[in-house]
Amino acid sequence: MANRSFFIKTFGCQMNERDSEIMAQLLAEREYIETNDSEQADLIILNTCSIRAKAEQKVMSLLGVLRKQKIRNPELKICVAGCVAQQEGKQIIERMPHVDLVIGTQSIYQLTELLDNLGDQPVVTTLSDDYQIPPFIPDLGAGRGQKPPATVPFKKFLTIMQGCNNYCSYCVVPFTRGREISREVSHILEEAHSLVEAGIKEITLLGQNVNSYGKTNRVSKEVNDYSFADLLRAVALIPGLQRLRFTTSNPKDLSDDLMRCFAEIDILCPQFHLPVQSGSNRILSLMNRNYSRELYLEKVETLRSYCPEIALTTDMIVGFPGETDQDFAETMSLLEEVHYHGSFSFKYSDRPGTRSAKFENKVEETVKSERLRIFQDRQDAISLAHNQGYVGKTFPVMIEKISHDSIVGRTGTNHLVHIAETPCNSLPGAIISVHIVHAGQHSLRGKLLEQV
Ligand code: SAH
Ligand code: SF4
Ligand code: F3S
Repeated sequence: MANRSFFIKTFGCQMNERDSEIMAQLLAEREYIETNDSEQADLIILNTCSIRAKAEQKVMSLLGVLRKQKIRNPELKICVAGCVAQQEGKQIIERMPHVDLVIGTQSIYQLTELLDNLGDQPVVTTLSDDYQIPPFIPDLGAGRGQKPPATVPFKKFLTIMQGCNNYCSYCVVPFTRGREISREVSHILEEAHSLVEAGIKEITLLGQNVNSYGKTNRVSKEVNDYSFADLLRAVALIPGLQRLRFTTSNPKDLSDDLMRCFAEIDILCPQFHLPVQSGSNRILSLMNRNYSRELYLEKVETLRSYCPEIALTTDMIVGFPGETDQDFAETMSLLEEVHYHGSFSFKYSDRPGTRSAKFENKVEETVKSERLRIFQDRQDAISLAHNQGYVGKTFPVMIEKISHDSIVGRTGTNHLVHIAETPCNSLPGAIISVHIVHAGQHSLRGKLLEQV
């Protein structure tokens, strides 16, 4: 039989990106070939996100479009994976009967078996209470043939835990990803070692709340003994690994031990994404975030004392139910106080099953839009000011992309740098020394000094 081809479209966060890579590897191991052309594919997987209503609507409209492709090619298999799959389950099939497989967030490792056993009837998988993440060794070459050297991967995500137990009142993740489960230390270290052996220079550890790594769903004594800080220290020891990052963290669980890692682990990048969501204690409490503005600011101060150059970023929600002008003013004043290097800000969106969906005093759409604009305008100005502060300084920059007339790289603080100097005899993943000459809103421009 000729090789079958598959096309994956990924929505949402890094967790989904990593899951898509895992599904791609599993399929490649079964002789499927990845294609970038959805029209040519025998299997289409939409790996979906349900964090805000808009994200979900995008998936539903794309599924509508795929109906026509399925009519043209009845052999086509359509699979919905990720958070919408988990959240909507059978309802997806009811609304979109041309979908063959709805694969919940815990079932991705069974993808190929589920496909093999697919009959005429669509299949839906759900969450289980005793789920454990299986060991998984990434194969960087899987399914993509011989790569030209300039496109060889040099950085990777590594999922260390799944799910979330926090139940922030607005958030679907505990419902779409299930209970928080930490992977075993030995599985994580094995995966990290194999990545570095395959040439990976930068690893980002992933979880919805990495700070609580090892605290829940302890599967073995080994997991018990490791905090997230211990895990960071263990991964950092792998010879050849040059940069280590992680995301994301709930401030309530941020320990002093973890903050100290920024002073002690030299390959841990000086960058921290620390979502705050609101500057108002009243709203933080309605959000069930379990920390106050004051505690958050204390942690920011401690982090900066351990690592003065640390670049802080955050997530912010505007227009949470009941958010007054005063609450929003407190969000703006927190932005001034922390002076974030950057942020992701969102209009509050009602999500099915969440507590806040039932709250009264919903904020009008126009007010939400106005608050978002005010917040983002101010953040843009602050980001630009931070970026201007880098001009005239020199940083180690990891090369990400090399084209005929430029190099694009990233600083440890996670700033994108364009270097208009070629030729360059390094490959992606090499670290070069770059003198910053210009700052823009979203990126920096620099001159190559030397290869370090
Ligand atoms: N685990 C991460 C959050 C992952 S979701 C954490 O706790 O920090 C990414 C971001 O989406 C959240 O930080 C939040 O800012 C935003 N978000 C989540 N639910 C939302 C909703 N219902 N409406 C608007 N934004 C939301
Ligand atoms: Fe959602 Fe809160 Fe968990 Fe983050 S910590 S994933 S916002 S419930
Ligand atoms: Fe979206 Fe699920 Fe990630 S809801 S943000 S893909 S955990």
